[in-house]
Amino acid sequence: PQYTPIPQPPGIPLLGNVRLLDRQTPFLCFQLLWKTYGDIYCLEFPGRRPVIVNSHALALEILDEKRFHKAVSGGMNELRTLVGDGLFTAHHGEPNWVVAHRILVPAFSPASIKGMFDDMFDICSQLVLKWERFGPEHSINPAEDFTRLAFDTVSLCTMGYRVNSFYNDTVHPFVTSMGAYLQEAQRRATLPTLVKGLISSSKWDLDRRSMNEIVDKVIKERKKGGNKRGDLIDLMLDGKDPQTGLSLDDENIRYQLLTFLIAGHETTSGMLSFIIYELLKTPHAYAKVREEVDTVLQGKPIRPEHLGKLPYIVAVMREGLRLHPPAPMIGLTPFKDEVLGGKYFIPKGTTMGLQVAWMHRDPLVWGSDDVEEFRPERMLDGKFEALPPKAWLPFGNGARACIGRAFSWQEATIALATLFQRFDLVVADSSYDLKLKQTLTLKPDNFYIHAIPRKNTV
Ligand code: HEM
Repeated sequence: PQYTPIPQPPGIPLLGNVRLLDRQTPFLCFQLLWKTYGDIYCLEFPGRRPVIVNSHALALEILDEKRFHKAVSGGMNELRTLVGDGLFTAHHGEPNWVVAHRILVPAFSPASIKGMFDDMFDICSQLVLKWERFGPEHSINPAEDFTRLAFDTVSLCTMGYRVNSFYNDTVHPFVTSMGAYLQEAQRRATLPTLVKGLISSSKWDLDRRSMNEIVDKVIKERKKGGNKRGDLIDLMLDGKDPQTGLSLDDENIRYQLLTFLIAGHETTSGMLSFIIYELLKTPHAYAKVREEVDTVLQGKPIRPEHLGKLPYIVAVMREGLRLHPPAPMIGLTPFKDEVLGGKYFIPKGTTMGLQVAWMHRDPLVWGSDDVEEFRPERMLDGKFEALPPKAWLPFGNGARACIGRAFSWQEATIALATLFQRFDLVVADSSYDLKLKQTLTLKPDNFYIHAIPRKNTV
């Protein structure tokens, strides 16, 4: 059959497109390539030829779990040195994934997450206290404080471990090690295998050992039987897969706990930072959030019963994740040779990247007038429910979708409602233009705000 060639940017002999991707912020190169090539293109690196998809129509094909499955490659593959076959980095079909998934899904259900409300509120109160104490003159980097919030929250809720980021000037050694490890994982992903074998790995090994030690200590103490909290770590130690009767061994439990810390802190923190950035640029939306919070909370601290009564905040979170999905790309690969859109040949073994951020701007789904605008109204009054299937996909796809969705949703709702109830937020530098920082996820870079305590909260 006659297939249509997939467009490819011009490359150099032997190295192909290696020099095309900016190591600091590959996301920006992908943006340029999307603008240049549109729905689909491929890149050429020594030994591989990834295909990148940007449109919703082609995405629907590669998200079909009968034809394609998750591909663990690049930085994510490097992370397997730390988190092995934990949920996030498990290859398709790895046996521990199924067992761990069945044991853990009930623990992440909305009902179980409600049980974590007080712990989440506890950490959020520490953030509020910090902003109050520093006062209105202080320049706050929201991305940094939201990272503290998210990290401390995941750590407390999943394994009862208080990182106490808000009580220390310097970040906890665990957080430093994890940040360094994530960055190095991304760097290693760009190196040829031969070079990787030659570079020094002593810092990388040290970071891994220190993270493992902290988590292993928590597991050991729990196994001694003391301080049971009925949290995720207890569930993993005591739980059995209902189908096979298997349970998770200590190493796998460590992989899962480290996975939750990695997957659960940068993402939620990026989401909150982008939302604050957009709300400060969009006065009508800012005013509506404030009005909703004041009407529903009536000046009292948020409680679990308020969570379902904040539809505008829900729309703000959906729209924030549409414009700025913190995990901007999903990796997939076909089970066998495939043809996309009836014309592009995709051989078995091809790594495909779905660029969620650009799919979230597909004019056939979102129109072309205001697709770059932050407009929570497009997610309100049944419009979100009426979207085509999988058009909004910040939490991934099918069986490998995010297990922590309800967790981050609740955590972010508590944070937004509480911050808008307690503070007037203003941009520190009104001429700030969005700059991006990319580790494994995306965040606004060098973005500062002031938080002025509100006198009258009702
Ligand atoms: C998977 C996004 C918060 C734990 C994923 C995936 C995405 C995602 C896109 C799929 C990745 C892929 O296909 O390769 C997000 C976003 C979050 C968030 C945008 C917040 C706004 C969390 C939290 C946790 C978490 C709070 C844990 C406490 C996980 C895990 C997986 C995952 C374990 C792997 C699931 C599996 O393959 O079985 N997340 N995530 N995430 N996420 Fe999240």
